[in-house]
Amino acid sequence: MATPQNIALIGYMGVGKSTVGRALSHKLHCGFYDTDEIIVQETGKSIEKIFDDDGEATFRKKETEVLKEILNAPAENGRVIACGGGLPLSKENQQLLKDNCFTVELICSDDVIAERIEADGTVRPLLAKLSSHEALLKEISKMKMTRRFYYESAADIKVETDILDMDDVLDSIMLFGEMWQNRRDRMV
Ligand code: S3P
Repeated sequence: MATPQNIALIGYMGVGKSTVGRALSHKLHCGFYDTDEIIVQETGKSIEKIFDDDGEATFRKKETEVLKEILNAPAENGRVIACGGGLPLSKENQQLLKDNCFTVELICSDDVIAERIEADGTVRPLLAKLSSHEALLKEISKMKMTRRFYYESAADIKVETDILDMDDVLDSIMLFGEMWQNRRDRMV
């Protein structure tokens, strides 16, 4: 059974894309790429500062550039890519994922997302100005609704990260990834 060359993790903020991605890349002995981390490295600015100084549109352009760079970089053993939460919203990025990746949407409940976002210390500009837990929950629920179509059309499978433990999450991704790759191989 073959593992896909590129496994992309997508989904709303706080679902665990970076944590799962890092663990998956260890298990598969392949490269790990986090689009947000690479943007910060390449620009020398935090995501928050990019949004403040240059605006969201500039950040989104950079996101596409970085996704292309990752996909074009040499990777003998394959790649796991943790995508920023808004990356699958653009048509161009959707196509890049479709053409090049086994794409997994990570999902979890609004409550768990809110708790993780409040606890992990990362400033997320699109949620930063909310003043209470209730306001955060409301915004999460609203944004998830407006984004649902994009995540669902980009994803090959969905995996829950609040009900399953880490080993089950990784096993599910690897099992379905092999099935996806085998079907692809049969089609060419
Ligand atoms: C965003 C998600 C963030 C980051 C930026 C915008 C979004 O990444 O790219 O704050 O639009 O959902 P995470 O999903 O890793 O938090």
